[in-house]
Amino acid sequence: MLSAVFNMARPLLLALDPERAHEATLAALERGLYPRPQGPDAPQLAQSVWGLKFPNPLGIAAGFDKNARVADAILEMGFGFAEVGTVTPEPQAGNPRPRVFRLIEARAVINRLGFNNAGHGAVRRNLERARARRARATQPGLTGITGITGIIGVNIGAGRGSEDRAADYVRGLEAFAALADYFTINISSPNTPGLRDLQAPEALDALLGRVMTKRAALVDDGQPWQPIVVKLAPDIEDDAIGPIVQTLLRHGVDGIAVSNTTTSRAGLLRGGAGARNAHLANEPGGLSGRPLFRRSTELLARVYLECGGAVPLIGIGGIDSPEAALAKMRAGATLLQLYTGLIYEGPGLLGRIKRRLVEAVEEADGESVGALIGSAAEAWAAGTIA
Ligand code: FNR
Repeated sequence: MLSAVFNMARPLLLALDPERAHEATLAALERGLYPRPQGPDAPQLAQSVWGLKFPNPLGIAAGFDKNARVADAILEMGFGFAEVGTVTPEPQAGNPRPRVFRLIEARAVINRLGFNNAGHGAVRRNLERARARRARATQPGLTGITGITGIIGVNIGAGRGSEDRAADYVRGLEAFAALADYFTINISSPNTPGLRDLQAPEALDALLGRVMTKRAALVDDGQPWQPIVVKLAPDIEDDAIGPIVQTLLRHGVDGIAVSNTTTSRAGLLRGGAGARNAHLANEPGGLSGRPLFRRSTELLARVYLECGGAVPLIGIGGIDSPEAALAKMRAGATLLQLYTGLIYEGPGLLGRIKRRLVEAVEEADGESVGALIGSAAEAWAAGTIA
């Protein structure tokens, strides 16, 4: 029923300025106005990763809930996990508006928000409230249909103009050590000048040295051990993939997220920007959605083969259909995240993806979605999938 309401609301949302539509969506979620799945997830969708039980592999990607306002609602809507952030130590206003553009015909978005967020302190308070609500909701007898036991990751970043970027990530670990279920180190946003330079081998080495030392110190201090995921840009050169992945593994990173938005417009040109949107294609910023799908999936497969299964991967970029989600898993993803697809398809997309994944597990004679991971990685890495 509520799904039908969302189908009716979507054209209205798409007629609004993108940031106002986003704020309206967050406000609706805060008020409990969202569809909930009819029952628990099929057992084939569950996986244990980093010792955490994911009820299904679908997560909301960073950027949707930068300040952790609606993590509970996201989980109740049927996501298997929520990633909040990117959060920087101090509050930031981000770039001047307009800074988010919808390319509707291409099913894409360009954003140059520039890490607008409320800062560590405010996001901590929101997560503390969410944690208290979760604790109440999971008392026997009070659990909802889905049971709010969900997993919340915190995506941390460096402030604009920060003189010691690595120190900002270290502060992020400290701030959220007791509140996050996992961390994502975001070194791949195109909208904070210089941030992606942290992917260069020497800078990456230095950053990870400090991040991993901090994690060990936090554990020594009695804080819970938290998995650390590093999120990569899709624009890294092919011959840089090997060195980057080897650096990540050498430092003991627990997962790799592939990928963030792209500064390239190649996917857009290939797929056609659409007549109404052609002028927007030149807006500076990161491109997400359907035109990002191919490049991000090829990179995912190459990272998967380079890792040889050493760590789980989060596949992100252009998931806007059940087939796209399935392709990401076959290319090597253990977990999935999406954002732009939700804007165009609405929350009904979640149920459709879940049904298709269960079907694919059955077709593969498998027991869980784990049976799908990487089955087409070679073909994706070679770029031979049409
Ligand atoms: C993003 N993304 C993003 N990523 C991140 O690590 N930190 C962030 O703060 C944001 N902010 C953000 C804002 C907006 C408006 C969009 C559209 C995207 C990137 C996002 O998490 C994801 O990696 C890409 O959008 C690709 O996935 P989709 O959107 O194609 O499913």
